[in-house]
Amino acid sequence: MADANTPRQYQLYHQSCYGLAPLADNSLEALITDPPYGISFQNHDWDRQLPQKQIWADCLRVLKPGAHGLVFSSVRLMHRLMVDLEDCGFIIKDVLFWVYLNGMPKNRDIALGIDKELGVESKAVGKYQYVQGYKKGGADNYYSEADKHKYEPGSALGAKYKGAGIGLKPAYEPIILVQKAREKGLNIAQNLIKYGTGALNLEETRIPYPKGETKVGHNPHPLGRVAANLIRLEDFQDGYDKFFVVPKVRQEAEAFNHHPTLKPVALMQHLSRLISFEDQTVLDPFMGSGSTGLACLALNRHFIGFEIEKEYFEISQLRLENLAKTLSA
Ligand SMILES: C[S@@+](CC[C@H](N)C(=O)[O-])C[C@H]1O[C@@H](n2cnc3c(N)ncnc32)[C@H](O)[C@@H]1O
Repeated sequence: MADANTPRQYQLYHQSCYGLAPLADNSLEALITDPPYGISFQNHDWDRQLPQKQIWADCLRVLKPGAHGLVFSSVRLMHRLMVDLEDCGFIIKDVLFWVYLNGMPKNRDIALGIDKELGVESKAVGKYQYVQGYKKGGADNYYSEADKHKYEPGSALGAKYKGAGIGLKPAYEPIILVQKAREKGLNIAQNLIKYGTGALNLEETRIPYPKGETKVGHNPHPLGRVAANLIRLEDFQDGYDKFFVVPKVRQEAEAFNHHPTLKPVALMQHLSRLISFEDQTVLDPFMGSGSTGLACLALNRHFIGFEIEKEYFEISQLRLENLAKTLSA
């Protein structure tokens, strides 16, 4: 390997990303990352806070002028993350919405809580079997828990608030599209000629027309429509499926990968295609189990990833090694 900025396909660092010390200034073409959301997801320590602002200044330092970045975020804290990115010098270009149907609403039965507060016993009204929407640990059927009791409120006040809850079903994740300013004095074409950055790769990310539909607009493109800032997850049966469709991965889809916030490789491929071109290098400072790296490897992009937790770093390594072997076979 010539230096840390010209990896042969991929270079993984098991260390904190802060500082991005091994990487040179103005050397990488794209940033794609799914950082801690700061929402303590499943009580994980690493998700207690948003990343310190410094990392975005570090990313700005190593990206080439005009380079784009895609930063995943949570609905609750995207505003703070956007301010951090902007404060560090990134231009906010757009917010992509990755839409899915199978998010779980985080709720509890408030009416039963009212019974408890009032010291009234809730009424047991039967049992049900809790069935997860996925197959656990390679099982051939959907994972279900033993029978659970079903309750109705016992108090009059509980009955009044029956069904009241605290949250909506989550159906999207925001992905912030940012850009490092072009070199002063260069227009988009000049920046692209000099650095290979400054434009989105719309050719490689076109959304194919649905079956039977071939022409759209005055000058239809043979490959389909321009990618939208709405990325759909499921095939919505509303006659409006013009957007990128990718199935959501379940935790433990691969036996050895238990990363709790695993992103679908197909989604990461779409994002990698969108803001980079072949042979360019994508950085993920919070790579987790390496989904961005897998996407890059399959698409002839180079990849540089950082991960602080040993167990996730090792999963990344294994996933990338396995894919590299498959691709070279
Ligand atoms: C949301 S997860 C990324 C998951 C990834 N998209 C995947 O598909 O597996 C964020 C990751 O950032 C890591 N992390 C947190 N702080 C870090 C730091 N300072 N340097 C490097 N990695 C860090 C966490 O351990 C976690 O695995």
